[in-house]
Amino acid sequence: MNVILSTGKSIPLEMHKVRIIQKTTLPPLVQRKKAIAEAGYNTFLLRTNDVFLDMLTDSGTNAMSDNQLSAMMIADDAYAGSESFYRLSETVKEVFGLSYAMPVHQGRAAEHLLAKAFVKPGTIVLMNYHFTTSRAHVELAGGKVIEIFHDDALQTRSDNPFKGNLDLSKFQEAIDTHGAENIAYVRMEATTNLIGGQPFSLGNLRAVKQLAEKYSIPVVFDGSLIAENAYFIKTREKEYAEKSIHEIILEMMQLVDILYLSARKCAGARGGLIATNHKNLYDQLLPWLPVYEGFATYGGMSTKEIEAMRVGLTEMLNIDVASSAVDFVRYFVEKLEESGVPVVTPAGGLACHIDAQRFLPHLPQSAYPAGALAAAFYLVSGIRGMERGTISTDRDADGKEIFADLELLRLALPRRVYTMSHVEYAVDRLSWLHKHRKLIGGLRFVEEPPVLRFFFGKLQPDNGWEDKLYQAYLKDFGAI
Ligand code: F0G
Repeated sequence: MNVILSTGKSIPLEMHKVRIIQKTTLPPLVQRKKAIAEAGYNTFLLRTNDVFLDMLTDSGTNAMSDNQLSAMMIADDAYAGSESFYRLSETVKEVFGLSYAMPVHQGRAAEHLLAKAFVKPGTIVLMNYHFTTSRAHVELAGGKVIEIFHDDALQTRSDNPFKGNLDLSKFQEAIDTHGAENIAYVRMEATTNLIGGQPFSLGNLRAVKQLAEKYSIPVVFDGSLIAENAYFIKTREKEYAEKSIHEIILEMMQLVDILYLSARKCAGARGGLIATNHKNLYDQLLPWLPVYEGFATYGGMSTKEIEAMRVGLTEMLNIDVASSAVDFVRYFVEKLEESGVPVVTPAGGLACHIDAQRFLPHLPQSAYPAGALAAAFYLVSGIRGMERGTISTDRDADGKEIFADLELLRLALPRRVYTMSHVEYAVDRLSWLHKHRKLIGGLRFVEEPPVLRFFFGKLQPDNGWEDKLYQAYLKDFGAI
């Protein structure tokens, strides 16, 4: 929720009380320098003891509520027929209006099952944009991903409120070129992650459904950030201003054939979900569930987490929860813009995204500017962000580098975890870093895994630039 102060300034408010806390420490500069070197300048490989604020992701790191924790106590542990599953199914019916629910161990497990059931070698999956794991599973099943976003979706400085919209003329073109029968499904990702957490409009989803239905192409909805997308629809799409988050979600669900999600994100619980109203689609997925995940009533999840997911799905319908990250992300983005730091606009869901190409114009994409910025920002702040650029994009089959559309440093704000002073600190250190940006050089791989290389890859800074940055920081702030 936002309030207007007597100065006229609008600020986001934390709509919760902190009852349980986890201690964090700000590791001294010298420790940070050692830690990032040992991590191969890859923030995924840092230990949390070396991290002050963990803005790597909101996945599995959102704060849980008192009601979620208490629900975990009534979990019904059973291999088959658990009451926790039946309670989850009722919630899925209420929250989404969908009758068939399948728990899976996390979002990518849902992607795996969808690819297994529907993607055949040579088929195509259309997407408003890919996510790393969503593309990997389609490709591993022999399919091909085609992204059909509007041309301006990749402009990092923009006032387009719905950069996550799917381009309908490109959709028609793809049908005409490849034939509807070769399109396994069209995937709409809520609050599109890799282009900066950008939403699509309900109007766009409706038009996508109309065209898809005409050609019998299933619409698959990645709802990992569904509440945030619904909040953007409410605040940015005029005819929905008076609708509740729940009403918007129900309307969206009437336009999709299969919903899947990472509950690690939207429900603050470690798990995932597939849901549909189509018995025939459910029946095609079900046989794979016990093979890869677990029996139909637990799907690889602990029953405690199923209970937490159930409560989390209900809680995200509350506007204070749906807006809790988004409002702080907007504040974060506005503050950085005021300081001249290049950020993705409009502000999206889940994270503040720094445009590394505008931040470090002296670095070519081959020097991995987003990776270099993530490493440099950790060094000067103890804050861990995530590279979302070329390092996150694997080479092609011939080993040639594929340059990412965007080079972003993502600073995720897990729901209800960090406070205003944490955001202010991040803004300050980023502004300082921006003033010293010339000190930041490129990175090169020293260990490069063949698939999803961003997880375990190790890199090395060119010409020891990290030493110069270390010295400049030491001079201005001392050892902390
Ligand atoms: N879809 C989207 C849009 C996601 O953002 C993620 C995960 C997944 C699917 C996969 O879900 O992690 O539960 O297997 N995103 C995390 C992130 C990893 O950091 O953005 P998962």
